[in-house]
Amino acid sequence: MSDRLIYVLNGPNLNLLGLREPDVYGSDTLDDIAGMLEDRGQDLGLSIDVRQSNHEGHLVDWLHEAQAEGAHAVLLNAGAYTHTSIALYDAIRSIRTPVIEVHLSNPVAREEFRHHSFVGMAAKGSIAGFGARSYLLALEAAAAL
Ligand code: DQA
Repeated sequence: MSDRLIYVLNGPNLNLLGLREPDVYGSDTLDDIAGMLEDRGQDLGLSIDVRQSNHEGHLVDWLHEAQAEGAHAVLLNAGAYTHTSIALYDAIRSIRTPVIEVHLSNPVAREEFRHHSFVGMAAKGSIAGFGARSYLLALEAAAAL
């Protein structure tokens, strides 16, 4: 049987992980995180497709694509679009593929404008606050779905 496919979608500014506010987001780059997910994915029988875009519409298109490609689940760190994007809320609700919201930091322990999550309102569940490990925890959750 072929591995189940997991899309790992990352939004704005996450291309700068490792350089960007390391006190908040840690020193791992997105490539480091992709490597960790691929290693763990092998153990779990999951194949991992990691992408990043600074453009909201790309994230919408990739959510649609995840369903069209028959992905098992999507891990979504939508960055700041988490807190603003009705388009992402609608896209998540438009597909049957389960979406797990991921954040490195814990947005509800930060500025008030990060407390609301359009992604979280539509997602299957959310994991936040564990740095790069949030992605691994989300991958475990996705494997168990
Ligand atoms: C983030 C949290 C968001 O509030 C922020 O805009 C990000 C990163 C996180 O992973 O902690 O860009 O999604």
